[in-house]
Amino acid sequence: MPDPKFATLAVHAGQEPDPLTGAVNVPVYLSSTFELTGIGTDKGWDYSRAGNPTRDRVELALTKLEGGYSGHAFASGMAAIYALVATLHAGDHVLCSHNVYGGTARLFNLIVRHYGIEIQYVDMSNLDALAAAIRPNTKLVHVETPTNPLMVLTDIAAVCEIAHARGVEVSVDNTFMSPVLQSPIALGSDIVMHSTTKFLNGHSDGLGGVLVGTTPEHKERFWLVQKAAGGIMSPFEAFLVLRGIRTLPLRMKQHEENGRAVAEFLSTQPKIKRLSYPGLKSHPQYELACRQQRGFGSMLSFDLGKREAAGRFLAAIKVFLNAESLGGVESLASHSATTTHASLSDAEREAIGITEGLVRLSVGIEDKDDLIADLEQALAAV
Ligand SMILES: Cc1ncc(COP(=O)(O)O)c(C=O)c1O
Repeated sequence: MPDPKFATLAVHAGQEPDPLTGAVNVPVYLSSTFELTGIGTDKGWDYSRAGNPTRDRVELALTKLEGGYSGHAFASGMAAIYALVATLHAGDHVLCSHNVYGGTARLFNLIVRHYGIEIQYVDMSNLDALAAAIRPNTKLVHVETPTNPLMVLTDIAAVCEIAHARGVEVSVDNTFMSPVLQSPIALGSDIVMHSTTKFLNGHSDGLGGVLVGTTPEHKERFWLVQKAAGGIMSPFEAFLVLRGIRTLPLRMKQHEENGRAVAEFLSTQPKIKRLSYPGLKSHPQYELACRQQRGFGSMLSFDLGKREAAGRFLAAIKVFLNAESLGGVESLASHSATTTHASLSDAEREAIGITEGLVRLSVGIEDKDDLIADLEQALAAV
């Protein structure tokens, strides 16, 4: 048998029938504790903060899909990002993409900095700036690509080459692409992170996050954070992600088709400015997107000029919902300045290009003609 391909792994990796009953779905093991077989011996689990059979399966599935060594599931994407830096020490230095998801910046600026860990934001599309920013105490380069919401790409392989030459690890937030469209580990990254809340779960009914590492040291480190700090994914959330993963390749196909169609439609609309979608030839990093991704996804953003115009658009949409988050089957539109990036100051938002007229779309899997008709009537109301 040849090695299984992605869609086969998505259905089966970590989701083998239950050895006890033959159930074809992974059971939800709602047990905080497990009977021991003796003093210091057990059947593989002792307490669910350290390990749970349902969580183990989703960790295994994501390890296989990302091509890593071990997976570690957390209560949310933010808990996973926190785990990335939880074992750093005062005096350590972290480099981070300069227009990351606002929640990542909030965690780094308002919490992690207080521990004496230095966080520096760099424009990762400028490789010279990255190389110049690495210091002897730099422990991690954290990349989000494409960025939320401006869809700026980072060349993962190039960043890894620069960081590795200086002995620094690279982590990549792969939330926007999912393992279907981008494989950071194959491009050289040491750690991959996801908010499973998004495409992996895919149905907007649970929160979660995951880190996939590539070495036994990562396994030790991230497991220690799970066990010691306790921000772990619950068995039921793990079940929801396992269920979501099984249809991920199919869903991503439709997200991609709809995302492209919506972007092409918007590119013809005179009221739309600064349309950012890496699948359009007008995107300044279209070539990089073609090289590093296996598609362009369904996330995009555009500027309507003024906050009032964005407000009128969001009030007029009918199929799209005015809501935060992304990656679910339903199409969402959101005002980045007051939602995902509300924790930044006006000056910080302005510096990275998140204007008052900016709207982000997460294009779902509905019929694309309905989506375009909805956007057309909402733009008429702007
Ligand atoms: C790119 C990215 N990373 C991380 C997160 C945080 O994930 P969660 O909301 O599951 O904590 C988000 C949430 O929107 C995100 O968009």
